[in-house]
Amino acid sequence: MSRVVLGVGGGIAAYKVANLLRKLTEAGHDVTVAPTASALEFVGAPTWAALSHRPVATDVWTDADRVPHVRLGREAELVVVAPATADLLARAAHGLADDLLTNTLLTARCPVLYVPAMHTEMWEHPATVDNVAVLRRRGATVMEPASGRLTGTDTGKGRLPEPVQIAELAELLLHRPDALPHDLVGRRVVVSAGGTREPLDPVRYLGNNSSGRQGYAVAAVAAARGAQVTVVSANVELPDPAGVDVVRVGTALELREAVEKATQDADVVVMAAAVADFRPAQHAAHKIKKSGAPPEPVTLEENPDVLAGLVAGRRPGTVVVGFAAETGDDRHSVLDLGRAKLARKGCDLLVVNEVGPDLAFGQTHNAAVLLGRDGTETVVGHGPKSALAAALWDAVAARFLPAG
Ligand code: CTP
Repeated sequence: MSRVVLGVGGGIAAYKVANLLRKLTEAGHDVTVAPTASALEFVGAPTWAALSHRPVATDVWTDADRVPHVRLGREAELVVVAPATADLLARAAHGLADDLLTNTLLTARCPVLYVPAMHTEMWEHPATVDNVAVLRRRGATVMEPASGRLTGTDTGKGRLPEPVQIAELAELLLHRPDALPHDLVGRRVVVSAGGTREPLDPVRYLGNNSSGRQGYAVAAVAAARGAQVTVVSANVELPDPAGVDVVRVGTALELREAVEKATQDADVVVMAAAVADFRPAQHAAHKIKKSGAPPEPVTLEENPDVLAGLVAGRRPGTVVVGFAAETGDDRHSVLDLGRAKLARKGCDLLVVNEVGPDLAFGQTHNAAVLLGRDGTETVVGHGPKSALAAALWDAVAARFLPAG
């Protein structure tokens, strides 16, 4: 159980933050909510108190004998500010301290995660851009807002990311406070995620169990570390990671085309998708019916190896990362198979994880070994998939990217 302060700013997205609070308390954390006075215009104190099981204050005068303006920040292991309005970002960047939340931000020495939500014009205003840069330079994590429908009839960048995505980054910072340095600024990153589906007819396909969670975590962590990220997403049912371009594909051939296109000017490509090795040679135009006779055997043909193609055609300096999901067998351990696959595939880094019932696929946690082409082997213990993603970016940034 960790001590978290949830600072709520005065924006309409405050109603979504009630859901974030639930996720944090359900994960077992001890959450104190510090709303600004204007946040309470959107969602009242009883909601925050009931969901956090704690009293709620906006000012520094309530319970003054317990010196809350210093205590809260000092004791916190993480401060999450959501929605971080333009006004709140400005006050934080300038060190103002006129309510409980801004006092807490000055006394906290733990990681701080700002989750902005505002209209696009406000997000893009040079004042906000500068304030965000100042906060990032001081070590805070500022998520990129999501794009889409805003409060009025307008659309654009400025939506609060989905609470589940905020909760994932919060868990990551609690698990590893140094997991989100802003070290991938200016890097272009492509991540494939999910699992391809190879159609037999209009309603059936050959597919696999990949949920896309690991690939989406790799993309979300890269974006939080400052990279410009494109995800090539094969049949993933998760919300789009905030601040990331998403290209949707279905089959292995579509995935190859989209990855190769996106990779042309990329610094790093991460193949986290489970790509089908084979596809049905025939794709029936109409639904295959029972005919009474024994069914025709399905003939398969081989799909291209997208990772091998990327390695063969890469520009000098492009870092190529593969994933290997292995079960091991009677003669070979998971790691033996991983080492052989690294040699065969020729990529710079291979993330080897063990899969099986209740392991990896569809789960929120994962463990792995990172095998480098330079012979390094880094064990990443069991943790959230975002922690494996952070270890992957640590390895890429330290070994393969020139200092930014
Ligand atoms: N991969 C790919 N194209 C394929 C198959 C796999 O790009 N047609 C990529 C995956 O995205 C992953 C890596 O290759 O990054 C390893 O995938 P895996 O299925 O473990 O490798 P295979 O070469 O298919 O080996 P295996 O014989 O174990 O199936």
